[in-house]
Amino acid sequence: MMDFQILKKFNKPGPRYTSYPPANFFHTEYNNDNYIQNLKSSNSQKPENISLYIHIPFCPRLCHFCGCNTTIMQKQDSVSKYIDAVIKEIKTVAQYLDTNRIVTQIHWGGGTPNSIPLEFLAKVMQVIYKTFTVDKKAEIAMECSPAYLEFEDIASLKEIGFNRLSLGVQDFNENVLKIVNRQASKHPIEDLVSTMKDLGFEGVNIDLIYGLPGQTPESFTLSIERAIKISPDRIVTFSYAHVPWVKSAQKQLEKIGLPSPEGKLEMFGIAYNLLTQNGYISIGMDHYAKPNDELSLALKNKKLHRNFQGYCTKETTGQIYGFGSSSISQMYGAYTQNQKNTYKYIEDIEKNGLSIERGYELNNNDLICRSVINEIMCNGFLDFDSIASEFSISTEEIKKIVDYDPSKLDQFKENNLLSIDDGKIKLNPEGFFVVRNIAMEFDPLLNVGEDKYSKTV
Ligand SMILES: C[S@@+](CC[C@H](N)C(=O)[O-])C[C@H]1O[C@@H](n2cnc3c(N)ncnc32)[C@H](O)[C@@H]1O
Ligand code: SF4
Repeated sequence: MMDFQILKKFNKPGPRYTSYPPANFFHTEYNNDNYIQNLKSSNSQKPENISLYIHIPFCPRLCHFCGCNTTIMQKQDSVSKYIDAVIKEIKTVAQYLDTNRIVTQIHWGGGTPNSIPLEFLAKVMQVIYKTFTVDKKAEIAMECSPAYLEFEDIASLKEIGFNRLSLGVQDFNENVLKIVNRQASKHPIEDLVSTMKDLGFEGVNIDLIYGLPGQTPESFTLSIERAIKISPDRIVTFSYAHVPWVKSAQKQLEKIGLPSPEGKLEMFGIAYNLLTQNGYISIGMDHYAKPNDELSLALKNKKLHRNFQGYCTKETTGQIYGFGSSSISQMYGAYTQNQKNTYKYIEDIEKNGLSIERGYELNNNDLICRSVINEIMCNGFLDFDSIASEFSISTEEIKKIVDYDPSKLDQFKENNLLSIDDGKIKLNPEGFFVVRNIAMEFDPLLNVGEDKYSKTV
């Protein structure tokens, strides 16, 4: 069960560790030429397989809480130009990749990919199938807004090749959606999900957010109960990340009034308690999955991974190559991000086939810290010896690189959030509530730079 005092005590700003180092370390000296070098070397690095990410930066209407990279829907002509640019970028990148490597995951995010004509998605998928070697069992997933999803669209998406859809419900309470300027679902979520199940989608996710104006512990309880009744394979409860210094539209929510930090923690606790009491396994901080879902099995077998799209398994994840404005590529040795401005992205691609805005090449110490932080964030377990053998250096050197000092963990041990046995660190189930705080103790770059982060819970 959740201990609110503990959550309150540890709730402070910190990185989300979707990458290591976090994206604020990416710098603009990194350019297209560096990317080409890193693309080539990624062919002989681990993991061998390929994940593709395609970003669609368009939404018909903007939600005031949104932290994603998106703009208001453009005319069809601009969308068409954008899709042509994405296709050109795919073909350019493929020139530097060994296309015999197997694609095990294709993820479409945004923005709202299902708000543009679906023929555009089909066109890009055809290019991917023609260019790469896509595994028959590859996970092909999309973040969908139910506001723009018709029943016949679900069948079309299946035909295009999608097998997992995440429905961005955010909250079932229409009053909350109205307050945050979000278009509600056109059809009952229950009916959309049963259509997906009937059509044989292998994965159905529901995304919810807590911490929005108008939400109360009571109203959020109803939303969680309704999600449980719908019974998707996975439910994600995102903590609303309030970063008005980056996303100025979020200031409007301050004017309406955000829930108190205590109210927000209570919503987190309600979600955790209700979901775990109703058969869902808690994965990391915000994902919940049914026990037979591959994420739950990966957690059990210490094979969970994490990337910019959230949690994933070692089987599906590969080095990620991102396409479209603002998209991030995550190779073994480097991270890159494309131009965030969609017009500039199209212009760059038309000229050069690539559009890198910034990036970061990892040195050996970064690789080691990333491995340590990933083990904590994903599997709640850290064995310094196994990291040492992975990097062929001594355990003592690993500890020095991550600034390890066991006394830094006393605060977590005293609160029964983790235990250390024979030098191995193991998080207790409650330790996952503060997993970002624990990971921060192994991050030598934490106090480098002055960037602000959202709070950890
Ligand atoms: C690209 S959107 C999903 C697809 C579609 N645009 C939608 O909203 O349904 C990805 C997810 O990011 C989450 N999200 C957006 N802004 C957020 C914020 N400020 N804090 C936490 N989660 C956020 C939402 O839960 C959303 O489902
Ligand atoms: S629909 Fe999704 S991506 Fe678009 S503004 Fe809303 S949350 Fe952001």
